[in-house]
Amino acid sequence: MVNIAFPRENIEFENRCSLLPQNVAAYKRLGMEVLVESGLGKGVYISDTDYEQAGATVLHTKKQVISGADIVVTLHKLNHEQVKNVQPGALVISFLDPFNEFDLIDTFCHQQITSISVEMLPRISRCQKMDALSSQASLAGYVMVQKGMQYLQSVMPMMMTPAGTLKPMKVFVIGAGVAGLQAIATAKRLGAQVTAFDTRAVVAEQVQSLGAKFLEIDLGETAQTAQGYATALTPEQMAIQQREQAKCIASSDLVITTAQLFGRKPPVLIKRDVICQMKPGSVIVDMAAENGGNVEGAVARDVVNVEGVTIVGTGFWANDVARDASQMYSSNIISLVSECWDIETQTLPIELQDEILKAAVITHKGVIVNQTIADFYEQQGKVQLVTTEKPQYDTGAVSQANSATSTLTNNSNEVA
Ligand code: NAI
Repeated sequence: MVNIAFPRENIEFENRCSLLPQNVAAYKRLGMEVLVESGLGKGVYISDTDYEQAGATVLHTKKQVISGADIVVTLHKLNHEQVKNVQPGALVISFLDPFNEFDLIDTFCHQQITSISVEMLPRISRCQKMDALSSQASLAGYVMVQKGMQYLQSVMPMMMTPAGTLKPMKVFVIGAGVAGLQAIATAKRLGAQVTAFDTRAVVAEQVQSLGAKFLEIDLGETAQTAQGYATALTPEQMAIQQREQAKCIASSDLVITTAQLFGRKPPVLIKRDVICQMKPGSVIVDMAAENGGNVEGAVARDVVNVEGVTIVGTGFWANDVARDASQMYSSNIISLVSECWDIETQTLPIELQDEILKAAVITHKGVIVNQTIADFYEQQGKVQLVTTEKPQYDTGAVSQANSATSTLTNNSNEVA
């Protein structure tokens, strides 16, 4: 029987967890044994007894949970110490940040661990129910508006009272992807006047359909990838964007930046000179602060004041609505596992020709099997970190592990 394990998260302040009791039965129906680390649901007020009553086995140490598992599921990646307890041949599933975690990926290769990085799941309709990046980003969009309100000294909607009229807040959202659209919708529901901008002109209609104004900036030709992600602007286009949005930023009470470039450092969109033009008491919430920031002066995991403007870079946004975030993540993962599960053999075959696994599996049988990640490491000159051992299955004429990716079309191995 396949054991699927859910250890507690590594990060001290993280309240989210990767399994809710309501999803245990679905794993059991697939024929799996569900192992849970004691205290898994503590941050969302779910007790060990709740998991036990749902049919899971609660174990008391992280080591017991991880070492007894064929599949290990977390939200944040395991740390190096914990990876040592993962059985060779087991599968780990989490946000892995594979573009930045060379050492971890290398360790997976050396330990023969198969890994799925949920942020790499392709944006196809079949994947929508398992798209953890979108579920957490959508909640982040909602929370960023809440965070902004926490630091603003005004209400969002217009209020006409006997004591006078309060003007509605002006909110400017930069980046109208999953998080940005939810931030726009939330600020609109609260009665703010909302304007938004995105380099992908296709989203103008979505912004307008939420009742917000789309700031028109002529950047010339811009593009998006097949997955729907924005491509980077040229330095000239970036300068035009910064110049044209400055007036809108200066007149806004709350600016929320959500601009990201998949697998790359986010662009710096708001410089200090523009922050200085904002009214004292205004607020900027920078979604990207953890990865470098869209805003000059934003500090990851902190709130700072620059010339009277509060810049919120606390990150971990979905953690503020941990119950809902856990429900969505737990549901994303059961959808992913069920989709890939083979009911006949009671195993999870790693079929690398499958569109989902081809995109999301990073390492398998001692090599990096993900073409995007292997290419990225090669460009970064990090190939020495990739194991050079020959894979243990027939890959034809492949002699180097990181070039094995293109030949892994007839492989069907199992995590069992
Ligand atoms: P993201 O988190 O990578 O980026 C956020 C937003 O920032 C994007 O809309 C991007 O265009 C924008 N951006 C980048 N550079 C910018 C700049 N200089 N100024 C202003 N905005 C900038 O992307 P996200 O939110 O994860 O998804 C992007 C799109 O992918 C969605 O809008 C949607 O169309 C598509 N998608 C499709 C799914 C599917 O299953 N088919 C699922 C989820 C998203």
